[in-house]
Amino acid sequence: MTRISVHVDGVHYTDEVEPRTLLVHYLREQLGKTGTVVGCDTSSCGACTVHLDGTSVKSCTVLAVQADGHEVATIEGLATDGELHPMQQAFTDNHSLQCGFCTPGMIMASLDLLKDNPSPSEEEIRDGLEGNLCRCTGYQNIVKAVQQAAGGEQA
Ligand code: FES
Ligand code: FES
Repeated sequence: MTRISVHVDGVHYTDEVEPRTLLVHYLREQLGKTGTVVGCDTSSCGACTVHLDGTSVKSCTVLAVQADGHEVATIEGLATDGELHPMQQAFTDNHSLQCGFCTPGMIMASLDLLKDNPSPSEEEIRDGLEGNLCRCTGYQNIVKAVQQAAGGEQA
């Protein structure tokens, strides 16, 4: 076992993990942060997306030991004082989810997209989210939500 020390959603944790433990399994099974989900076993769906030091990563492709000494943000840390984050509100306003399974990863990836490009075109949003798959929505309303969060007011 290896000791890691990590900030997750603003809280400091020190834990023992196996060197092979994936970050997504650490988040879900040791910290109980089940808002971050596993949708595939091929690193292709993006449902497990979190931020590592502010940049979105697929947490099924990162070892927990690689997060040692770093800052992790998950979907569970976005709302403050019971208020949805504007990106979460935009997904709600634009009916951007059906089953909701892709939504945590979609939102985390969308936030990273806007950090790098605050006023993306529709094409840039689609390109930016290409690593995140949704089986339900056809993506149109997800694009609208990102446009609203970027200030375009789609709902
Ligand atoms: Fe990580 Fe699918 S669970 S990419
Ligand atoms: Fe069901 Fe995206 S809302 S997979």
